[in-house]
Amino acid sequence: QMLKVFVTRRIPQEGMKILQKAGMCNLSVWDSDEPVPRAELLKGVAGAHGLLCLLSDKIDAEVLYAAGPNLKVISTLSVGFDHLAINEIKKRGIRVGYTPDVLTDATAELTVALLLATCRRLPEGVEEVKNGGWSTWKPLWLCGYGLSGSTVGVIGLGRIGLAIARQLKPFGVKRLLYTGRQPKPQAQEMDGEYGKKRQEISDFVVVSCSLTPDTQGLCDKTFFCKMKKTSIFINTSRGAVVNQEDLFGALSSGQIAAAGLDVTTPEPLPTDHPLLTLKNCVVLPHIGSATYSTRGVMSELTANNLLAGLTSSEMPSELKL
Ligand code: GLV
Ligand code: GLV
Repeated sequence: QMLKVFVTRRIPQEGMKILQKAGMCNLSVWDSDEPVPRAELLKGVAGAHGLLCLLSDKIDAEVLYAAGPNLKVISTLSVGFDHLAINEIKKRGIRVGYTPDVLTDATAELTVALLLATCRRLPEGVEEVKNGGWSTWKPLWLCGYGLSGSTVGVIGLGRIGLAIARQLKPFGVKRLLYTGRQPKPQAQEMDGEYGKKRQEISDFVVVSCSLTPDTQGLCDKTFFCKMKKTSIFINTSRGAVVNQEDLFGALSSGQIAAAGLDVTTPEPLPTDHPLLTLKNCVVLPHIGSATYSTRGVMSELTANNLLAGLTSSEMPSELKL
């Protein structure tokens, strides 16, 4: 019996090949680079045994109801799972696959790139070269803050947070501070100091926690007010960890020096959004894991998780519900 699988987007071919080769799936794909419209998602999942989705698909009770009782597995092409209604999924005994580990280094690297781009004002510099603003070498022009000798505070020292700390170390970071639910033994090798309210003494605050009810809106006015005027805020986790109005206030009033964001609310951020009018705010379009090889491996892992769920076998990366 062929098992019905709905894939909500065109994904890297590595994963599709695995699904096709398995020969057990009746594959239905929303074959586009654009998100599946809600109505098509609800239609596409009807009767499905497996669902392969992305972080931009909201998988809630309505989708699960539309899928019906066949649905055994949801495999998301992401490490984040805040787009999945976990309690509803658990209630129905559906298994979930996701993609930790394989994107850790790529996402940490993008975080370092964004941090450097923001603190050394690369987008502004590129713009000045193009618009004729580069008149001569100027001692006081386009100065920023460097990493050497700095103190970095990481919010959420998980897999990606640790990789960020490791990758930043060779730049001469002096102190690594971190917050989170509990101290991490792995932080010791980097002399990481655990404690609350570390944003007060950090030159760079890097958000790398997952989005949960506890972290939603964590970075708000109160939070930014405790940061130094010379400090820089970086977020590569989820936009909703930040209160964006408060961030805009902190950036436009000079409460903090600059911000670099790879994630926003909403995504995409509208082109007329106030944050995009600020020179001291660098916004990227959620590209943390976007290397060819990482996306290829994510695609493979997502396919293998799905197949394991369909055949009731052990998943390479199952989310413990
Ligand atoms: C990216 O944000 C992911 O969750 O994989
Ligand atoms: C910079 O290019 C310098 O020579 O100091």
